[in-house]
Amino acid sequence: MPRDQLDVLIPEDRLQVRIRELGAQIRKDHGDAPITCIGVLKGSFMFFADLVRAIGGDVRCEFLGVASYSGGTRSSGVVRITDDLRAPIEGRHCVIIEDIVDTGLTMDYLVRMLAMRAPRSLRTCVLLDKPNHREVAITPDYVGFSIPDAFVVGYGLDLAERYRNLPHIAVYTP
Ligand code: IMP
Repeated sequence: MPRDQLDVLIPEDRLQVRIRELGAQIRKDHGDAPITCIGVLKGSFMFFADLVRAIGGDVRCEFLGVASYSGGTRSSGVVRITDDLRAPIEGRHCVIIEDIVDTGLTMDYLVRMLAMRAPRSLRTCVLLDKPNHREVAITPDYVGFSIPDAFVVGYGLDLAERYRNLPHIAVYTP
């Protein structure tokens, strides 16, 4: 069986530098206020862990389980919540933390769903943005890196559950 081709797109040290910048910006924008960080599982787990440490101060951690792909490299366009938040977010400053925005369908759905719960503020933070592939107009408040329209894996992102444990972002070529 031929091996998958994986080419490093963003090395570990560049990820970490950028995440520290994002964390500092998010903290600055919220002052000393408590922030509820909402990690979208599974893809954001590694980014989430590094980002909440970079934000610092009063941070609550919540998670949403979402399935939007069914094991392939194309979005199904169907967003399914597999695990909801454990705590109410009414009156709280919230930041949704996602691994990647591609078509925008997942983020658009999550923003609309969470906005109905009356948070005090609701911002969005993504590590990777593939702006050329949008099906709905959505602009994240915080973006780590804008990347070309390729399928990427690593640092939490998977291909059929593989490669999440890579410490860097790589382009996958079948
Ligand atoms: P969207 O709904 O098309 O914006 O896609 C969002 C979700 O699709 C992300 O949370 C990822 O789980 C997944 N996804 C999109 N592009 C990629 C990719 O290049 N690699 C791995 N997962 C991806």
